[in-house]
Amino acid sequence: MPLIRVENLKKEFRVHKTSGGMMNSVKGLFFSRGEVVNAVDDISFGIEKGEFVGYLGPNGAGKSTSIKMLTGILVPTSGDIVVGGITPYRDRKLNSKNIGVVFGQRTQLWWDLPPIDSYKLLGKIYRRPSKEIQLKIEFLTELLELQEFIKSPVRKLSLGQKMRCELAAALLHSPEILYLDEPTIGLDVVAKDSIRAFLTRLNETEKTTIILTTHDMGDVEKLCKRVIVIDSGKIIHDSSIERLRNRFGNHRVLEVEYDEFSEFSLPENVTTVKNIGNRFFYQFDSDKIKAPELIKRILEHNSISDLSLVDVDIEEVIRKIYHEKRTV
Ligand SMILES: Nc1ncnc2c1ncn2[C@@H]1O[C@H](COP(=O)(O)OP(=O)(O)OP(=O)(O)O)[C@@H](O)[C@H]1O
Ligand SMILES: [Mg+2]
Repeated sequence: MPLIRVENLKKEFRVHKTSGGMMNSVKGLFFSRGEVVNAVDDISFGIEKGEFVGYLGPNGAGKSTSIKMLTGILVPTSGDIVVGGITPYRDRKLNSKNIGVVFGQRTQLWWDLPPIDSYKLLGKIYRRPSKEIQLKIEFLTELLELQEFIKSPVRKLSLGQKMRCELAAALLHSPEILYLDEPTIGLDVVAKDSIRAFLTRLNETEKTTIILTTHDMGDVEKLCKRVIVIDSGKIIHDSSIERLRNRFGNHRVLEVEYDEFSEFSLPENVTTVKNIGNRFFYQFDSDKIKAPELIKRILEHNSISDLSLVDVDIEEVIRKIYHEKRTV
């Protein structure tokens, strides 16, 4: 049985829409018809221990609602969730011992306290021996490089520093599962890199199961081995990142810089994506034509000064999936 099992999960929100104006608002209180939003609409999946899963989708797709049900914050309208043998919303306390949660836009640290004090308080809340928490704080301080600011009040920290402190707070009790809802939002490249390196290490060495929602495709490329894509509350894709790439054929792009370009006819299945001066970008399907063959054809007609091959951007693939809304 997988560590996380979700079956036919649904969450409906009833929203009261009024057409504005005081009278309509008052009417709404008494006669509101209410509209149902199917935020999560019959989804099923299983996640094994140690997986690193990207949970993706456009704005309003139902990602945060799913995470909130998985963590036990929200009660599903129908369907089942079992996490480590527990139904999260029924056994919220027990479930919370097993999980760490970070919401990118919220904090579980006390604003005016230095993180170190928050950690000690959290240790008490988790009812863990202070020695154990002390060792864990030291361990996480080193891994996340918190030394310089662990004693400064949270309100004085930069966004990236704060996020590193949040991660430590979520991991103090050594949870088996970590849920991250947009942890890299608003961070610069350096801060993102340091968080990504930490998460990779956590997943590899501690075998922590990680479920990550993000709009940052760099996160997905660097971290996730599996990707679940949700749109309008439904799962529209669930597979490994390689399969995701292959889904639209094995598209790759060849970048060529010509010494001097003279027109020639491209092989079938090759298209020019763009060209800037003598620099051309060709997209091709490597299942249909191999890169060496394409290069050979090019060299028959032109001499070149530079050449490089790039895999298609995962962002491009995701955009296509959002656009097509097909199910695999
Ligand atoms: N408490 C609520 N009451 C009413 N509707 C809600 C509530 N929470 C979410 N929704 C609606 O449910 C849908 C899914 O929202 P959710 O926050 O899960 O999306 P998301 O995938 O996390 O989007 P984003 O990428 O913008 O964070 C949206 O249409 C949203 O407006
Ligand atoms: Mg969200």
